[in-house]
Amino acid sequence: MDGMNSSPPGPERHADAVASTAWSRRLGLRVPLVNAPMGGVAGGALAAAVTAAGGLGMIGMGSAGSVPALHRELVHVRETEGRFGIGLVDWVVAAHPDLLDVAIAARPAMISVSFGTDMRWVERVRAAGISTATQVYSAEEAKRAAESGVQVLVARGSEGGGHGAVEQPLRPLLASVLEVVATPVLAAGAITTHADLAAVLAEGASGAWVGTCLAACTESLLAPSGRRALVAARGDDTIVTRAFDVGMELPWPTRFPSRVLRNPFAERWTGREDVLARDAHARADLAAATSAEDPAAVPIDAGTGVGAITAVRSVAEVIESLCATP
Ligand SMILES: Cc1cc2nc3c(=O)[nH]c(=O)nc-3n(C[C@H](O)[C@H](O)[C@H](O)COP(=O)(O)O)c2cc1C
Repeated sequence: MDGMNSSPPGPERHADAVASTAWSRRLGLRVPLVNAPMGGVAGGALAAAVTAAGGLGMIGMGSAGSVPALHRELVHVRETEGRFGIGLVDWVVAAHPDLLDVAIAARPAMISVSFGTDMRWVERVRAAGISTATQVYSAEEAKRAAESGVQVLVARGSEGGGHGAVEQPLRPLLASVLEVVATPVLAAGAITTHADLAAVLAEGASGAWVGTCLAACTESLLAPSGRRALVAARGDDTIVTRAFDVGMELPWPTRFPSRVLRNPFAERWTGREDVLARDAHARADLAAATSAEDPAAVPIDAGTGVGAITAVRSVAEVIESLCATP
């Protein structure tokens, strides 16, 4: 990976830290961690903090991703000298192809495009000397992505926060993906503790792709009310739904619902998304409530590991607790 392998390979095992992996050493990472490119949460400040803490920081351009937003966030990773990544959403790139152009021109170490089947982006990104990643939900999909030239596969279990297919829990998914591909595989879905991280590395993952447990950090773009909601939530407070996507008329493929914190809007419409699609008043109410930041209606993406968030902490503190032996 261009620009990422200048650090010395480092010891097999850092004192009091999780083992490094061949993949993390190749990238010059001190810890085998990537933050999930969380749209509206993982901006440049969070990415820069993850990189400073030894992982690979990713800027997330989610469903609201745009070229101006990407430019705004890139300012924060200038000092990382290319030690950052950018995560894009397939259908957003299809609508705004210049987003991929700007991402490539920023010369990150890694670009991920998830939630699609059109893999033409892979060749372009690789030709620019940038590593490629995508999230997969089954062994077959992992095989197809690897055959398309994707260099890093993210096995994303159904526990994960935000959008994703809800097909298999992480551990069986990870095992089945590792069986069929030779490329590095990162594990994603409710990795919130040192034990979670150590377990997936022991099973053969090259690292972890961590979302929810970094979402409430001081460096995230999340509004203070969203951080408070994450801190207050328990593990069983999440729900998988398409209600917000339908309510906001976002063209997310039906295969990728989102795991969010339960709130009255989600409770009311989950499973009745077809009714919501025909109810213009309910959708207008949602638009009004979200712009007023009404917690009864604002969607907050979170995985089942959300119960482990007990305080708003810095990225450095969270990564330290994930990596250091308790
Ligand atoms: C707040 C939030 C926003 C997310 N936004 C995106 C996104 O824009 N693009 C993407 O590829 N994945 C996104 N995801 C999904 C993550 O890539 C990843 O699958 C998930 O965070 C892993 O599970 P965890 O949250 O339990 O760690 C998001 C997840 C969260 C929690």
